[in-house]
Amino acid sequence: MSEAERVVPMRLQRFLARAGVASRRGSEKLMTAGRVRVNGVVVTQLGSKVDPACDIVTVDGREVQLAEHATYLILNKPSGYLTTMSDPYGRPCIASLVPTQTYPGLFPVGRLDADTTGILLFTTNGDASQQMLHPSKHVSKHYVALVEGMPTEGELNRLRKGIRLDDGLTQPAEVELMGEGEDRENTAIVGITIHEGRKHQVKRMCEAIGHKVIRLHRDSFGPLRLTDCAEGTWRLLTSDEVAQVEALVQAKGILPIV
Ligand code: URA
Repeated sequence: MSEAERVVPMRLQRFLARAGVASRRGSEKLMTAGRVRVNGVVVTQLGSKVDPACDIVTVDGREVQLAEHATYLILNKPSGYLTTMSDPYGRPCIASLVPTQTYPGLFPVGRLDADTTGILLFTTNGDASQQMLHPSKHVSKHYVALVEGMPTEGELNRLRKGIRLDDGLTQPAEVELMGEGEDRENTAIVGITIHEGRKHQVKRMCEAIGHKVIRLHRDSFGPLRLTDCAEGTWRLLTSDEVAQVEALVQAKGILPIV
């Protein structure tokens, strides 16, 4: 059964996001700006529904359709690239590292800082993307941080319990001291699993216990690992990985039909 057959009827902003036009919020902005028509009529009402099997949806006059299947891929992000699909100042951005011509509508699920390396998931399904990032879904992310100094167990316990940052208390994290940093004196390697995605979260958590992050790498995102994906390259998810991501999304109530 195709995606279009499986999901009727659905909210227009969800339809646009799932078709890869923009994120759900971006799609709402397109609607309120009067750029979206259903069967020739401008629709600005955010709760409006469409039937993808028979309604014709256009954005700026161009017809939008649900793809048969969403595309999912991972990038092993190198340092020095912004997590954005375009940059008005021409700085290096991740769009140049993934196949946007072959898979139009790809965008990243969340972001990594420009100097952070590692796994970044992309999809054409803006709807699943938004929901995977929702704090209530608790998708786990594992980071390896090279930090200044050697954290004590007491300090690491503060991260394990949850630590107060300027935007509130963090959820408990799993934290392990992995050893001394090899290429720099008086540094340590710390493994940290978090289930949230606040801005600069790992760096701020480490700084809050007095250990500035020197380098940060993410090696897992939910069920996904960087296996067979060298730095600076991307690969499509295997069918098993797609099934795991979609199961995770569905198990957590992420893809309701309407
Ligand atoms: N936490 C950070 O501080 N930076 C990232 O890029 C990701 C998580």
